[in-house]
Amino acid sequence: MFNSVTKRPVWRHLQTHAAGLRSYPISSLFDLDPHRFEKFHRVQDGTVLDFSRQHMTTDTLALLLQLAKEQDVEGWRTRMFAGEKINTTEDRAVLHTALRRPASDTVLVDNENVMPGVEAARQKMKDFCEKVHSGAFKGATGKKIDTIVNIGIGGSDLGPYMVTEALKHWELDGITSHFVSNVDGTHIAETLKDIDPETTLFLIASKTFTTQETMTNAATAKEWLVQQLGNETAVKNHFAALSTNRSAVEAFGIDPENMFPFENWVGGRYSLWSSIGLSIALNIGYDQFDALLQGAHAMDEHFQTAPLEENLPVLSALIGIWNRNFMGYPALAVLPYDQYLHRFPAFLQQLDMESNGKRVTRNGHAVDYATGPTVYGEPGTNGQHAFYQLLHQGTDITPCDFIIPKISQNPIGPHHQLLQANVVAQAEAMMRGRTLDEANGDPQRVFEGNRPSSILLLEEISPYHLGQLIALYEHKVFTQGIIWELNSFDQFGVELGKEMANKLLEDPRSIGDIGILDYLKS
Ligand code: F6P
Repeated sequence: MFNSVTKRPVWRHLQTHAAGLRSYPISSLFDLDPHRFEKFHRVQDGTVLDFSRQHMTTDTLALLLQLAKEQDVEGWRTRMFAGEKINTTEDRAVLHTALRRPASDTVLVDNENVMPGVEAARQKMKDFCEKVHSGAFKGATGKKIDTIVNIGIGGSDLGPYMVTEALKHWELDGITSHFVSNVDGTHIAETLKDIDPETTLFLIASKTFTTQETMTNAATAKEWLVQQLGNETAVKNHFAALSTNRSAVEAFGIDPENMFPFENWVGGRYSLWSSIGLSIALNIGYDQFDALLQGAHAMDEHFQTAPLEENLPVLSALIGIWNRNFMGYPALAVLPYDQYLHRFPAFLQQLDMESNGKRVTRNGHAVDYATGPTVYGEPGTNGQHAFYQLLHQGTDITPCDFIIPKISQNPIGPHHQLLQANVVAQAEAMMRGRTLDEANGDPQRVFEGNRPSSILLLEEISPYHLGQLIALYEHKVFTQGIIWELNSFDQFGVELGKEMANKLLEDPRSIGDIGILDYLKS
C-alpha cells in the first residue's frame, strides 16, 4: 500500500494552516510584525535570501521544517553525498558534488574512491586549456585556436552556455565561443557561416554520445571541416569529445587524446562541473572555472552542515513546497535582474522540470499531490515590459524568485541603481497591490496584490558566486524531490517522443495515419 506523504499529520496540519492564513494578506503580516524582515531573511557567505514577502508565518516555517525532518531530507542528503546509488531506476550514484570537492577527499562508489579519477579529469582539462591558450595546441594548418564551438543539447548545452554567458565579463581575450544545440540545420549552418575552420575547435559534448541532435550536428561539422581543410586527418586537431562513451567517441574519429571523460554518476543536467564544462574553462581560463567549482563546493558544505532553518537550499525548497502544495500555485517565475544571467531561467527549466516533473514516486506509486511547477522567466527589466502584466493582474498567482547582484560588473551611470529600484518595486507592488480606492474607482487599475516572491541577493556575478547560485538551486530541487518522494535523477519522460520520431523516420505510417505528414512532405 502507498503511504503517501499527504497522510502525515503534519501535511494535514499545513493544509488547515494554509486555509487559515488565506484571510491574512502578506502585507497585513508586515503590519502585524514590524520585525518581519529580520525573521524571514538569511545570509550565507555574502548571499542574502529575503523571503519576507512569502505568504507565511513563523508557524508555517516550523511546520514545513517538521515536514522536511519527517521526510528524512537529512538522511537522503547524507546518502547522496556519500555516493549511495540513490538514482535507483538507473542504479547510479548522484555525485556531481564530488566534481567540486578537494582532491584529498574520499568518496566511495562500489568501495572505490572516485576522487583520483575526478582530479585526473580536472588536470586533463587544465592542461588542455593551457595548451590551447598558449598556442601549443594548434589547428591542422598550424594556426592558434581562437574559436570554440560546443555541440551538445540539454545538460550538455544549457549549463555550459548559461555559465559562459553569465561570465562574459571574465572571458579571455582572443577566444570566441559558440553553442549549437538544435537539430534544425539552421543552428549549425548559421554558426559555420561566422567561423574560420583553421582556428576552430569543435567540442562534441554528449554524455551518451548517441543523442540524435548532437550526433547529427557533429557529423555536419565534421563534413564541413574536412571539406574546408581538404583533409580527413584535420579532424584530430579540430575536434574534442566530452563524454562517458569512449568507444562511440573513437568510432566517430576523435583522437582519444582529445577525449575528456566523466562518470555515469554525473547526471546530464548536473554536468557543467565535469568535462562538459570544458567550453567554460576554455572561455574564462581554468583558474576561473576552478573558482566556479569552489563557489559550488562552499554551497555544498552549507547545504550539508547548516541547520535546516538556516539552510538556504532547504528554505528555498520549503517555500516552493508551500506555494505548490498548500497555496496551490502551479508555476514559478525566475527573474534575474542581471543581463549576464539571461540564460539562467532556461537552465533552471531543465534542472527543475526534468528532475521533478514526475507523477510517480521513486517506488512506482502514482502521487496524489502536485509535484514540480512550470518554471519560466526572463531577465528583468525586459520581462516587466512583457509578461509581468499577467504576474500583477492575471487570474493565476505565480510566485517569483527575483535574483540580483549587489554590485554590477558594468557600473555605468544610473543603470544599476535603476535595476535595483525596479526589483524591489516589483516585489513590493506584487505584494501590496492597489485597491479600488487607490485606483480612484477604476477597476482596470486595481492590483489584487498578495502575490508572493523572494529576493536572492548575490555579491556579484563572479565565477565563485555563480557557482554558489547554481548549487543552491540544485540542492533546492533535490530537497523538493525528497519531500515529494521522487527520483529526481532519471528522465524517462523524454523518451516516448524520441522513440516515436525514430519510428516515423523509419516508416511514416508506423504510428498511425497522421494527416499532417502529407502536408509536411509537400
Ligand atoms: O533529453 C534528455 C537528455 O538525456 C538530458 O537529460 C540530457 O542532458 C540530454 O538529453 C543530452 O544527453 P547527452 O549528453 O547524452 O547527449
